[in-house]
Amino acid sequence: MRGFSFPFMLLDGKKLSEKILNSVKRKLAAKKVKPGLAVILVGQHPASVAYVRQKKLAAEKVGFIFREVNLPSSVSERRLLAEIEKLNRDRKIHGFIVQLPLPDKLDSRKILERIEPRKDVDGFHPLNFGRGFLGLPTLLPATPAGILRLLDAYKIPLKGKNIVVVGHSNIVGKPLAALLINRDATVSVCHKFTKDLAEFTKKADIVISATGVAKLIRAKNLKRGCTVIDAGCAKVGGKLVGDVDFANVKKIARAITPVPGGVGPMTVATLIENTYLAARNINNF
Ligand code: GUN
Repeated sequence: MRGFSFPFMLLDGKKLSEKILNSVKRKLAAKKVKPGLAVILVGQHPASVAYVRQKKLAAEKVGFIFREVNLPSSVSERRLLAEIEKLNRDRKIHGFIVQLPLPDKLDSRKILERIEPRKDVDGFHPLNFGRGFLGLPTLLPATPAGILRLLDAYKIPLKGKNIVVVGHSNIVGKPLAALLINRDATVSVCHKFTKDLAEFTKKADIVISATGVAKLIRAKNLKRGCTVIDAGCAKVGGKLVGDVDFANVKKIARAITPVPGGVGPMTVATLIENTYLAARNINNF
């Protein structure tokens, strides 16, 4: 017994991402350009290899050119910057990303700053990040933009809502908080130094977690009828899991994303859409 009357929603990121990919494919069919997406992968971090594979499959599905640049984890900063320069100049490539995390000895801030902002389909360059924060049109980071897209598709209101973002990474937490503030939500950003996470999550209308800590978000620390977005990713016993204790949280939540099939595919679809937008911007179509 769920104990409340409104219907439960499983926020199906897989289904929505397929719609987005099909829409990009249809729009491309009407044009004569073939957008090019490249990914620089340094080392063979297993999660990164899996993410890059998803991005490649999606790019090929919509008819993009896809290029993977594999570099060893021992690569020098100089060599990596030279690869970025090559992609910045490559006329067949309209968007590219450097898959994160990078090995510790590389300074990711310095590296991301060298990506040509018009080709920065991850939206991590300070120029795009800043424009996003100000609410100006730009290429937005794929995971936060994908999460907003999913919430909007299911008509979950944001304005005036108490939203708790768990995790303050540059990839998800920080840009997500900015996008939510721009939608007039009341946003709290919690992270591993937050003294009492439950104190925040108990009051939240929406909890969005991106930490990689399995079962961090539990039913007893949530408000009945809240919405829970799981952007976490960890392997437990060889199985992909998120941050949320799904089996129990689903009994008290109004809406929840599954893992897999929630935020992950939305990230990939948003990256593809960003690449389409970058190609349109560069080629004026
Ligand atoms: N690592 C985990 N998520 C992402 C992402 O969205 N972009 C990049 N470049 N690396 C990631």
